[in-house]
Amino acid sequence: MKNLRTFVMALTVGALPLAATAADSQKIEYSAEGRLIPPENYRQWVFLTSSLDLNYNAPVPGAPPSDHSQLDNVFVDPAAYDVFVKTGTWPDKTIMVKENRDTASAGSISKSGKYQTAVVSLEFHVKDEAKFPGKWGFFGNGGSGPARFFPTTASCYSCHGDHGAVDTTFVQFYPAIAIGRSRLRG
Ligand code: HEC
Repeated sequence: MKNLRTFVMALTVGALPLAATAADSQKIEYSAEGRLIPPENYRQWVFLTSSLDLNYNAPVPGAPPSDHSQLDNVFVDPAAYDVFVKTGTWPDKTIMVKENRDTASAGSISKSGKYQTAVVSLEFHVKDEAKFPGKWGFFGNGGSGPARFFPTTASCYSCHGDHGAVDTTFVQFYPAIAIGRSRLRG
């Protein structure tokens, strides 16, 4: 019995470094046409934020309020998150995902408020230094399947470049790491 327990422990301890190695190396996959293959397990990644109805344009005076809402969920791969927390920079091969979802208000037991429903689109921000002259590339799809590349003339690059707090990413909207960074800076 004692021997069996020792054997099982040896197996478990031996398996740990293997699992850590596999999780550490995030691989970016592209199709033959240069589209990004969405990472299958992004919903198990580190959750950075959920934002409701972010609007990048000043409200038009007198315009009726929109009756439709959208929520997003932002995730980053765990290996990149670990490096960011330690160094304050995103490593090569970082993948960030913005999952945009429809909302509903009345349903099940809910009478008001808003909850998330179907995925409307997925957007990706990937750091692949050898592939992109500006180090980062943007991709998007309609919710599933290979995501098409946005050329560097797309507004993604200018808005993120001009307003993203760290290395073209919007860390100022990700409370856990935004707060961590200001604490580090004192
Ligand atoms: C006018 C500004 C603006 C434009 C244009 C824009 N974004 Fe963003 N983006 C943001 C803001 C603000 C956030 C962070 C807040 C949030 O959405 O939760 C963000 C976050 C993201 C994220 C999460 C990772 C990160 O970089 O912080 C992805 C992925 C993303 N955007 C993709 C895109 C794509 C693809 C396009 C172009 C089709 C685009 N964005 C255009 C403002 C912009």
